[in-house]
Amino acid sequence: MKKIEAVIKPFKLDEVKDALQDIGVQGMTVLEAKGYGRQKGHSELYRGAEYVIDFLPKIKIEVVVADDLAPAVVETIQNAARTGKIGDGKIFITNLEDVIRIRTGETGAQAI
Ligand SMILES: Nc1ncnc2c1ncn2[C@@H]1O[C@H](COP(=O)(O)OP(=O)(O)OP(=O)(O)O)[C@@H](O)[C@H]1O
Ligand SMILES: [Mg+2]
Repeated sequence: MKKIEAVIKPFKLDEVKDALQDIGVQGMTVLEAKGYGRQKGHSELYRGAEYVIDFLPKIKIEVVVADDLAPAVVETIQNAARTGKIGDGKIFITNLEDVIRIRTGETGAQAI
């Protein structure tokens, strides 16, 4: 299993969610986040200017899927979240050890 975490622009959430539903993702968690990337939250960084970091509002989504679905999830998020402008976000992929479905006690990929 893989856990795919993506930081995206907030207005892209519905588009990303719909696209993930279309490829069969069963569930996701969404968090309101603040962050910065290479531009440190500024649209431009002035050379020699004093360094001030601004956090910008972002949405973080977390999706857990079986290994075979992971490449499609990543591609789908990338396509749906992309505007081509700075701040489009990042996708982080990690191996996930286990999942437990609390109601049934199922574990592993069965529990997703
Ligand atoms: N190295 C990182 N670790 C954790 N979170 C990050 C990292 N880089 C970016 N993020 C998160 O992703 C958000 C969007 O990052 P962003 O897309 O601006 O990255 P970037 O590297 O500056 O790319 P771009 O040049 O396209 O803006 C940040 O606000 C932050 O929440
Ligand atoms: Mg950036």
